Amino acid sequence: MGLDGSPESLAAARWASGEARRRKLTLRLLHAWPLLAPEPTRVPAEIDQNYCAKRIMHNAQAELQARHPDLSIIGNLVADDAQNALLQAASESEMLVLGSRGLELVESTDAIVRIDATTICGSDLHIQRGDLPEVKPGTILGHEAVGDVVEVGRGVHTLRPGDQVIVSSVSACGHCPLCRDGMYGQCRDGGGWILGNLVNGTQAEFVRGPFADSSTYRRPSSLALDDAVLLAELLPTAYEVGVRNGHVSPGDTVVVVGAGPVGLAAVIIARLYSPRRIIAVDLSPSRLEAAARLGADSAEVPGRLIADLAEGPGADVAIEAAGDPDSFVLCTRVVRAGGHIANIGMHGKPATLHLEALWPKNITISTGQVDTSSTPWLLDLVTLGRLPISPLVTHTFSLDRMQDAYDVFSHGTDTGALKVVLRRE
Ligand SMILES: NC(=O)c1ccc[n+]([C@@H]2O[C@H](COP(=O)([O-])OP(=O)(O)OC[C@H]3O[C@@H](n4cnc5c(N)ncnc54)[C@H](O)[C@@H]3O)[C@@H](O)[C@H]2O)c1
Ligand SMILES: [Zn+2]
Ligand SMILES: [Zn+2]
Repeated sequence: MGLDGSPESLAAARWASGEARRRKLTLRLLHAWPLLAPEPTRVPAEIDQNYCAKRIMHNAQAELQARHPDLSIIGNLVADDAQNALLQAASESEMLVLGSRGLELVESTDAIVRIDATTICGSDLHIQRGDLPEVKPGTILGHEAVGDVVEVGRGVHTLRPGDQVIVSSVSACGHCPLCRDGMYGQCRDGGGWILGNLVNGTQAEFVRGPFADSSTYRRPSSLALDDAVLLAELLPTAYEVGVRNGHVSPGDTVVVVGAGPVGLAAVIIARLYSPRRIIAVDLSPSRLEAAARLGADSAEVPGRLIADLAEGPGADVAIEAAGDPDSFVLCTRVVRAGGHIANIGMHGKPATLHLEALWPKNITISTGQVDTSSTPWLLDLVTLGRLPISPLVTHTFSLDRMQDAYDVFSHGTDTGALKVVLRRE
């Protein structure tokens, strides 16, 4: 691990050197926790970003800080029991060091990347709502990042320390039958969407990137940092799962339901195909304003226009980008006979498929996990200035303001936030 003299890297070195262990500091979250130190300690209060089991803390941080004004915490926690354990530990020791195993090479195909920029996805909010119970308490969230490679395993052949890379949300082993078929999201050999899901993710100072050769992309020096982070998942998702799977074609009427970052990216990419009309649908006025700004021909709450379309010619393509049962049903109502519904949204609840009305309509419904196989193509288009994506980033924060970023992003319909980018300062 590289050291640059920053407080963070010195803290990392302290941890690595075992000093923290010698002091018998306190608590490990992640896999086996809480393990309180046998000897209560009084040491400077700190929780380093790297060691912080994160995200989704609700009120625990405020409560901890009220009780321990010297204690600084970066990041969040997942579950109530994690919060309770922290509170308990804080009251006993005044210092918490939360262990992360994410900083060491585990497999020879891993790379450790120091994060320069990461972001928050609607899927992180689904995790927060409990829609993905497989995400274990204490898992560091985040699956989109750009950063410097600081260490690579013996089995990594195309990267070396110092390379600046986009860390893809999907890890691809690169050699299983599904990876060979470009379906990295379905990788059978330990890849797929695992970052910030099954293993620690990118909302931290460092991340362990699995299958680094086939799961990272070099960032050209001319590509802005904030644009680059959108290539880790947002743009491939909007393109592959929305525009491509929906078969958007010249002259099409395209309805995009859900005008969050993913839906808006689909609007921007769909424009490449010269559609007749793109109609963005959302419930939030601020999202509809953003859709109009970013190139939708109409931006509407579900209402008359959509009813007229549903009762009249119908949309050639309906893209579901909300992850909401009503939004999916709206797509099935609005699509024309023979049209395509491309579901992008992650659904935590069942959505009704009205086959009694749909069976004779010859529609095609596609749905899926992004593969990120289109990243090189999209990267090229963005670098050439053919995809005006910069307005998708509305807010930036330093990495240590993760909670603020979550607050702003999770209330995006009020705050006007689309993508929030957290940068190492
Ligand atoms: N398939 C994939 O691989 C993949 C990858 C990334 C994100 N996603 C999913 O894509 C979805 C969108 O992501 P995002 O970051 O833009 O989320 P977001 O929460 O920021 O945006 C969703 C938008 O949908 C709107 N909405 C909700 N219900 C609606 C309804 N009934 N009618 C109209 N609009 C409605 C909301 O107002 C919001 O503006 C999420 O479900 C996310 O998990 C899927
Ligand atoms: Zn995501
Ligand atoms: Zn694979």
